[in-house]
Amino acid sequence: MTHPLSIGLAGLGTVGVGLLHLLARNADLITARAGRPVIVTAVSARNRDRDRGVSLAGLNWHDDPVALAADPSIDVVVELIGGAEGPARDLVESALAERKPVVTANKALLAIHGAALAHAAEEAGVPLAFEAAVAGGIPVIKALREGLAVNRIARVAGILNGTCNYILTRMTDEGRDFAEILADAQRLGYAEADPSFDVDGIDAAHKLAILAALAFGRPVAFEAVHVEGISAISTFDIGFARELGYRIKLLGIARASEAGIEARVHPAMVPEHAPLARVDGVFNAIVIEGDFVGRVMLEGRGAGAGPTASAVAADLIDIARGRATPVWGAAAGALSTAPSVPIDQHIGPYYLRLMVVDRPGVIADVTAILRDQGVSLESMLQRGRAPGEAVPVVLVTHETQESAMRAALARIAALDAVMEAPTLVRIEAG
Ligand SMILES: NC(=O)c1ccc[n+]([C@@H]2O[C@H](COP(=O)([O-])OP(=O)(O)OC[C@H]3O[C@@H](n4cnc5c(N)ncnc54)[C@H](OP(=O)(O)O)[C@@H]3O)[C@@H](O)[C@H]2O)c1
Repeated sequence: MTHPLSIGLAGLGTVGVGLLHLLARNADLITARAGRPVIVTAVSARNRDRDRGVSLAGLNWHDDPVALAADPSIDVVVELIGGAEGPARDLVESALAERKPVVTANKALLAIHGAALAHAAEEAGVPLAFEAAVAGGIPVIKALREGLAVNRIARVAGILNGTCNYILTRMTDEGRDFAEILADAQRLGYAEADPSFDVDGIDAAHKLAILAALAFGRPVAFEAVHVEGISAISTFDIGFARELGYRIKLLGIARASEAGIEARVHPAMVPEHAPLARVDGVFNAIVIEGDFVGRVMLEGRGAGAGPTASAVAADLIDIARGRATPVWGAAAGALSTAPSVPIDQHIGPYYLRLMVVDRPGVIADVTAILRDQGVSLESMLQRGRAPGEAVPVVLVTHETQESAMRAALARIAALDAVMEAPTLVRIEAG
């Protein structure tokens, strides 16, 4: 038999232990598909004594994960520690310097240091694989970079964060507030104790930056992603969205135009019959639009031990077979230099919710400001009357440039009848 592929595994948390289980349980299938056994020979984590529910007998233990890179018995380094800096980054850089292939699930690392790491992998002539870094078990990296490689991609849009989708789904189904559902999600283990990475949109932005790089063949540019989270979405917005025929989803959207590449993560109103509007709970989904293939949608579990380990192990099979693709789909010299388009230049329809004092003339003031900025209205909704008190008013615009919308919003927010910061949600095709 050909010699086994020997793995050095750093990180024995949710995904690391999931990978050990998967490699053991499906060993025969993996051997057949990889053409040789894939076995873990060395591991590293912080706490050697922790019971992880899996036997580590016979495996070399390294206190320092970076030591895995230099261990001569290891063919491939698998980094499942996490974090854009510290041991994860040190390990991946060291492994590439040692000309060892790397598999990682680390979206933060790829989004922030992906351009330099791709360079290092290309110099070393070894693969840097990261299928698990975006949308967990959904093979979207392979789909974009290989299956759809011949297409010019116009747009990628997706639900990329399961925690946000879970919270928004429950807000929609139960009519309860963001804070209440978040607390419940934390109790049930669907949200972290510090949920900011998820609910502020950062995690989705890391993933979108990676997808945009693959879709448009451009080095990853996380700093160019416009990011908004879901904490400003209220039950009013969820209810109005329903009334208007939409669902609110946190989307990551990357679009190519003549001006360049637009990449943004924010809550969006999606038409209720669009496939993305029907992806609920912790599920992720990605829509890809290519010039020859048309529209493709992938849906599945974006996190969890099993789905994420499935993606990591698939990368290991590619490496065992000697299959490799450049990190961003083409060699560094062949990548695009298209500029990033700032959010100010985004054009689309908007939903605007105001809390205004219920008194004559207020709506006229608001619509006059919109008219002055060249923003035309498609519809307006006002529910309930409470003379002298704050009531919600919703305005839906025709296609408008973001800069005009922002200028109008600043003036509207300054009106003394407007009681809280207005909520703006972009309306997006599904
Ligand atoms: N969880 C998911 O569903 C999921 C989905 C997609 C992608 N990912 C990505 O996969 C990676 C791992 O996530 P996870 O959920 O498995 O994380 P996790 O459960 O927190 O596990 C992290 C592991 O890293 C180890 N570690 C931390 N600092 C270390 C250090 N200085 N030296 C050696 N080991 C160290 C920890 O050791 P101890 O156990 O000894 O503390 C732990 O075993 C992250 O990049 C994450 O973004 C996760």
